[in-house]
Amino acid sequence: MSYSISIQTQEKKSSVDTQSAPFGVMPTDHMFITEYKECQWNNPRIVPFASINMSPLTLCLHYGQTVFEGMKAFYMKDGHINIFRPEKHYERFNKSLHRMCMPEVPEDLFMDALHQFVQLETDWIPNDEEGSLYLRPFMIASEERLGVKVSDEYIFFIVGTPVHQYYSKPLKIKVETTYTRAVDGGTGFAKCGGNYGASFYPSQLAKEKGFDQVVWTDSKHHEFIEESGTMNLMFFIDGTLVTPPLSGTILDGVTRDSLLTIAKDLNFDIQVRPISINELKEALKAGKKVEAFGAGTAAVVAPVEMISIFDKEYTCYTGADAQMFALKQALYRIRKGVDEDKHHWNDVL
Ligand SMILES: Cc1ncc(COP(=O)(O)O)c(C=O)c1O
Repeated sequence: MSYSISIQTQEKKSSVDTQSAPFGVMPTDHMFITEYKECQWNNPRIVPFASINMSPLTLCLHYGQTVFEGMKAFYMKDGHINIFRPEKHYERFNKSLHRMCMPEVPEDLFMDALHQFVQLETDWIPNDEEGSLYLRPFMIASEERLGVKVSDEYIFFIVGTPVHQYYSKPLKIKVETTYTRAVDGGTGFAKCGGNYGASFYPSQLAKEKGFDQVVWTDSKHHEFIEESGTMNLMFFIDGTLVTPPLSGTILDGVTRDSLLTIAKDLNFDIQVRPISINELKEALKAGKKVEAFGAGTAAVVAPVEMISIFDKEYTCYTGADAQMFALKQALYRIRKGVDEDKHHWNDVL
């Protein structure tokens, strides 16, 4: 089935300051929306951004059937626009939807909507080193009915917001050994709303103690490192790039995958394997050079300057020559079209 997307435009809001807005608060002028009813996606359209009306009975407000994605569009150095790895985001969106009993969005509908939306909002893409248009495709269960059941109706949206750096300074993080983000057989690999709601309480406790994020550990013994907030975690330990393997409990990050691939291209030593808290602690105690960083679409590469393990604080290396910055630069250069896009990640409009 092919879909025709109708477009109702409105003029760009005048005098918007995309530089100073905090991350994610300033929507662009439009949004994409389509409703799923009787097993079909209906009336796909791009309309002026607006609030939506919802019955208090709407299922997503009660039982958490919501899934989202986050990706970015950039200006390249030659003035073209690049959406970074939308296929990989689409693949993950579907995995998340499947886990949450929600219907897939057909690939042609997803991609057409994304392309047309970005084309319409090019004025909103900051054209500087750190700026991009953050794109948020998401789906909610929209059937109006109180009752614990899989919804028969859904709404799929795409909205966008201009963004710059997510974190302005290196992070202080705390290894979490009481609370758990995800369990085997649960929804950790899915980008569903509930994962985030459940992570707020421990993250809030950590923030009250001055930390930016927690490091999640495995739910059975709190022994192995999993990921952090909205980022996968990666380390350089004595020059070797180490990151935990994918499992059912961490998100298959697009940035993680991209950085691992770049590291391979750059002939870095790489180990994708479980990392225990003890191993990390011992490496830091022994004075090994340890770089720690979060990898995610929003933060890209977020350096960690301090990591607290069992209430003891350790310093990680964040000097200008840290290897994580070489990875970050290489990723930027591919996205901007400065270096060759060997892996066909750039979806250039
Ligand atoms: C829990 C979690 N882990 C990791 C990531 C990083 O994934 P990506 O690089 O695809 O943004 C994110 C962000 O989407 C996330 O929410």
